[in-house]
Amino acid sequence: MSHLAIITGATSGIGAGFARELAKSHSHLWLIGRRREELDALATSIHANEHCECVVMEVNLDDRAALQSLADKIAQEPHMQTLVNNAGYASDGLFHEMPWADHDALSTVHIQATMQLTHAALPVMVKNGHGAIYNVASIASWLPTPHSPLYGPTKAYIRHFTNSLIPVYRPMGINMISVCPGFTRTDFHSRMGVNIQKFYKEKGLMRATTVEEVVRTAMEDMAAEKIVSIAGLNYRFIARLLRTLPDRLLLWITARDKRFQRPPQ
Ligand SMILES: NC(=O)c1ccc[n+]([C@@H]2O[C@H](COP(=O)([O-])OP(=O)(O)OC[C@H]3O[C@@H](n4cnc5c(N)ncnc54)[C@H](OP(=O)(O)O)[C@@H]3O)[C@@H](O)[C@H]2O)c1
Repeated sequence: MSHLAIITGATSGIGAGFARELAKSHSHLWLIGRRREELDALATSIHANEHCECVVMEVNLDDRAALQSLADKIAQEPHMQTLVNNAGYASDGLFHEMPWADHDALSTVHIQATMQLTHAALPVMVKNGHGAIYNVASIASWLPTPHSPLYGPTKAYIRHFTNSLIPVYRPMGINMISVCPGFTRTDFHSRMGVNIQKFYKEKGLMRATTVEEVVRTAMEDMAAEKIVSIAGLNYRFIARLLRTLPDRLLLWITARDKRFQRPPQ
């Protein structure tokens, strides 16, 4: 029996981790990203270790025509089993100083792509009576993120969107979950120019998780029919705390962060 899993942002980090894990239970993978060489290397290593065929697709998800074309391909796949909407990144800057095109691109990758690929995958999953969709959000979905002004809001959207679908599609046999990692060791922060040697903590409240922890926890939580998956006791504690704090207090704490304080111009 053929089982297809499609992973966006499979090039590195959490997406590549999902690809390696899903290769154990699926006969076919589509690996989606922009960096061809990394995708090819991942496909080769998966093929060497698992009996799984990988198709590499170079797709820029902020390009609406390319996104539509990917959605059309997904809609025609009769063996669609698992979709991982994982591609994402954070911007860095003040909202009004960044070009509109940057905001448009980030919201397209986070919101439009997640919605459109889910919309494309669901008809065949409904017809088959089974399927699984992982939507990668973030702990930041409970936080204001002034340094990356669309990051927190778009991740909150992903979580709410997933929650809106769960009550309808779980009874049809399609399982869904929001994956909400805390700081995780991937390319994410180095792409933002962060010094990762100093940034990732080994222990304590801000201990950085590994990709393997995030993916394993997500799969266990999906099997347990949870609605949100958070790897690491520390981040589960933080998420619980964030849900109880009044917005006013969260904003006050955020405003104390020196990075957001600029002298008046
Ligand atoms: N690392 C963390 O601390 C953390 C915490 C919470 C949530 N997350 C979320 O986890 C997800 C995966 O991130 P990661 O930590 O694994 O970082 P990563 O290693 O930088 O991976 C991000 C992935 O997204 C893909 N991507 C970004 N923009 C894209 C675009 N326009 N079109 C197609 N693919 C695109 C990248 O592929 P290409 O570069 O090849 O296009 C890459 O495979 C993201 O949604 C991120 O927001 C990460």
